[in-house]
Amino acid sequence: MTLAYEHEEYDEPRADTSAQQAATLLPRISIQAFCETRDVLEALEEARADRRTSRTQMSVQMGGVAAAVDLYREAPTPDVVVLESMAGGQRLLDDLERLADVCDAETQVIIIGHANDVMLYRQLLSRGISEYLIAPIGPVDAIAAMCRLYAQEGEQHAGRSIAVIGAKGGVGASTVAHNFGWAMSQDLLKNVAIADLDLPFGTAGLDFNQDPSQGIADAIFAGDRLDESLIDKLLWKCTDRLSLFTAPATLDRDYDLEFESVEQVIDIARTLVPHLILDMPHQWNAWTRQTLMSADDIIIVAAPDLGNLRNAKNLVDLLTQQRRNDRQPFLVLNQVGIPKRPEIAPREFAAALNLELAAEIAFEPQLFGTAANNGQMISETQGTAKASDAFRDLARVVAGQPDAPRGANTLIAQLMAKLKRSKDK
Ligand SMILES: Nc1ncnc2c1ncn2[C@@H]1O[C@H](COP(=O)(O)OP(=O)(O)OP(=O)(O)O)[C@@H](O)[C@H]1O
Ligand SMILES: [Mg+2]
Repeated sequence: MTLAYEHEEYDEPRADTSAQQAATLLPRISIQAFCETRDVLEALEEARADRRTSRTQMSVQMGGVAAAVDLYREAPTPDVVVLESMAGGQRLLDDLERLADVCDAETQVIIIGHANDVMLYRQLLSRGISEYLIAPIGPVDAIAAMCRLYAQEGEQHAGRSIAVIGAKGGVGASTVAHNFGWAMSQDLLKNVAIADLDLPFGTAGLDFNQDPSQGIADAIFAGDRLDESLIDKLLWKCTDRLSLFTAPATLDRDYDLEFESVEQVIDIARTLVPHLILDMPHQWNAWTRQTLMSADDIIIVAAPDLGNLRNAKNLVDLLTQQRRNDRQPFLVLNQVGIPKRPEIAPREFAAALNLELAAEIAFEPQLFGTAANNGQMISETQGTAKASDAFRDLARVVAGQPDAPRGANTLIAQLMAKLKRSKDK
């Protein structure tokens, strides 16, 4: 067991961005938690109800180390035991000694303590404790700690999924998903895969001017043949850092998908690529709803009119209600400023949803039409376009990176970007 925990003061009981980033879907493990205070009990109960622990078998109870020792005298130990202890120093170490007598060697132990004590932390480490968290904690802190255990164990750490959905059909959700993914890979140098989940009509292949003979449908319908090597083979390398899962975009069959088949493909793809962008079709059925709900982050793309506002509001309400411990969705207003169209001002639109505006992209039919017809991204068609900056900034915000340095759009910065692009070619 290794302990990679660095002492941090938890001023905020709620998860910060780094915990949010670290907390992904946990594997099928068993977890038992024994608390001493109501606050920690409540945080862990909330972690248990969170989507990221949906695969685990998790129980939470009061009683602390004493209850755990009592139980494990009779019962087998789970994969992870979480113990809250108000005791510090020698008393805690003695308690853990008693636990060690009844606990399997493979069981990982996380302690939630109330003492910020470096000596104690070292002693816990030498006794094989996996993580030491200092109360108060939020539900996502606990999930992030468990995720770290599995990353440390050398198991593949799941990449993050980012679903992009339109509040209405045709508002540019796919255009945003593709350009955002491109910016993430080209400008932020992340490894990214884009999965086109609009099986009958998706345009990822067209937009990137790629025509692989196989794609996402071959994975979704692979049945028993589905495994990591198949996904690896089907992920089409568009550039060194960007892979595509294109849609068949043919109508020779129906696409009534089962969520489980889509989920399996997403799960495996996430172990192969750190950032998986899901280009969602504008549909609402069991598999699209569940796929959306289980994404790590969600980008809602809307055009600034009343129908979009109503739909976006319904989406935001549902997401807020069912994903209490997740980040708010990111709102992108697209096709802003269509001549003669009465519009809701973007800031008002965002304020009505109680969201910050993550990006605002103008309606530019010439630019977007040329890019689409040439199978190019906007920044390839016109690197200096405002929309190129908007996609880059959106990528930064979603990846949790600080703002671009001031003057990033100076002549020198543009020149550097140009040099980088020609080097990448
Ligand atoms: N800001 C923009 N300015 C002008 N045209 C745009 C803009 N954004 C997208 N478009 C165009 O709008 C059309 C629809 O875009 P896209 O296919 O991305 O929408 P969508 O929301 O994914 O649609 P669907 O509901 O079919 O999935 C495309 O022709 C695209 O080039
Ligand atoms: Mg689309």
